[in-house]
Amino acid sequence: MEEIHVLGKSSLKGSVSIQGSKNAALPMMAASLLHRGISVLKGCPAISDVFCMEEILRSLGAVTWWEDHDLYLDCTNAEKTEIPAFYTGRMRSSVTLLAPVLSRNKTCSIGYPGGCVIGKRPVDLHLMALRNLGVRILETQELLIAHCENMTGAEIIFPRSSVGATQQALLAAVLARGETVLINCAREPEIVWLCRYLRSMGAKIEGEGSSTVLVHGVKELGPGNFKVPPDRIVAGTYICAAAATGSEIELKGVLAEELGAFLEVYRKIGGQYEAKGGTLMVNGKGAVHPVELVETGVYPGFPTDLQSPLMAVLIGIPGRSTVRENIFEDRFQAAFQMKKMGAHIEIDGRDAVIEGSISLSGCVLQAKDLRGGAALIIAAMRASGETCIRGANFIRRGYEHICEDLEALGCEIWQT
Ligand code: EPZ
Repeated sequence: MEEIHVLGKSSLKGSVSIQGSKNAALPMMAASLLHRGISVLKGCPAISDVFCMEEILRSLGAVTWWEDHDLYLDCTNAEKTEIPAFYTGRMRSSVTLLAPVLSRNKTCSIGYPGGCVIGKRPVDLHLMALRNLGVRILETQELLIAHCENMTGAEIIFPRSSVGATQQALLAAVLARGETVLINCAREPEIVWLCRYLRSMGAKIEGEGSSTVLVHGVKELGPGNFKVPPDRIVAGTYICAAAATGSEIELKGVLAEELGAFLEVYRKIGGQYEAKGGTLMVNGKGAVHPVELVETGVYPGFPTDLQSPLMAVLIGIPGRSTVRENIFEDRFQAAFQMKKMGAHIEIDGRDAVIEGSISLSGCVLQAKDLRGGAALIIAAMRASGETCIRGANFIRRGYEHICEDLEALGCEIWQT
């Protein structure tokens, strides 16, 4: 079992650079299958979810290699059409391979996606979008088996917003015949980045970032050559680390405009920041005020991925704060671990009611999901004594060098 150890009561100082975004890079990797040639993703994060997607692409026949942080994907011969559950069970975003494999090879059989256990996470909206474009899909116990000779553009109305299903629809529509309109689609920055990437390959897309997106299908796409944007969730996690420890740090390579709702809450609790170009100066010294209610929501709402890291801050601020999780029904796993440190958190359905306290004690904790695991590191930084966080492999799915970064900022943190 891989563990991360943190000696609490540390204060941070200095500067770190933010890695490339996991949730932008993964669909871009899937999109690269749409060109029979070499694409490159510059500044791609070297994290285990990216390695897993790379392994799946190789299993389909792609050849991949790294040059520093640039990931090359040669999809010339990626002609295989089967992705077994052995791979897909390891990560949620594997399901977005369905559209590109279908699009280039007319058929695809894929295992059901796994990923962090934070709720039921069905794929009905993904399948609805593909069926609208003319894909026939058989749902067996183990596999999704899909066929389509020629996808045809259509109107796709999403009954609720889904990042993954919107990506699936885009990946199918760019090479479908005719025009596709996505209505009530997701507006997250990762959707916008995927559209920009696809457009750089020759796709015709309009309206990304709004809830209606128009795609004019084209005959073929050229090579992708694109810089992966900085990871807004990693940036938010480090801001939470500064807030929890009352520290002043500098984050390089941040798109502050993608963090609007999060920074608003950070400011409400008393945190300060200044954005200059791509640099964010963060001062968490005044982050001492509880917050009446923070609700997660689809973009531009407060990101569910920063719910647990924020909770790690709020458990140390005296007074009552309430966090409401509206996206995933089972995303309070980290809260149960924080309670072991002495945090006062009552879970009531979608609400976590926190009575903040300054006395938290280090102990042995278990990370159960990626962001929750990162949140436990933050909680450990403000606790007294040593905390051991088991299940570090969850954290490595999305954070390339969280221990090294925090150590460079002055935290006593090490891995075993
Ligand atoms: C993406 O997951 C991200 N993952 C998640 O980040 C993120 O938390 C989430 O979007 C919300 O922002 C990646 O980009 C790889 P959704 P995704 O489809 O696409 C329901 C992290 O820690 N739903 O927008 O799976 C679903 O159950 C991860 O980096 C359906 O009902 O999220 C959820 O309640 C975790 N049917 C809601 O929609 C479907 O077919 C939003 O999910 C699809 C989704």
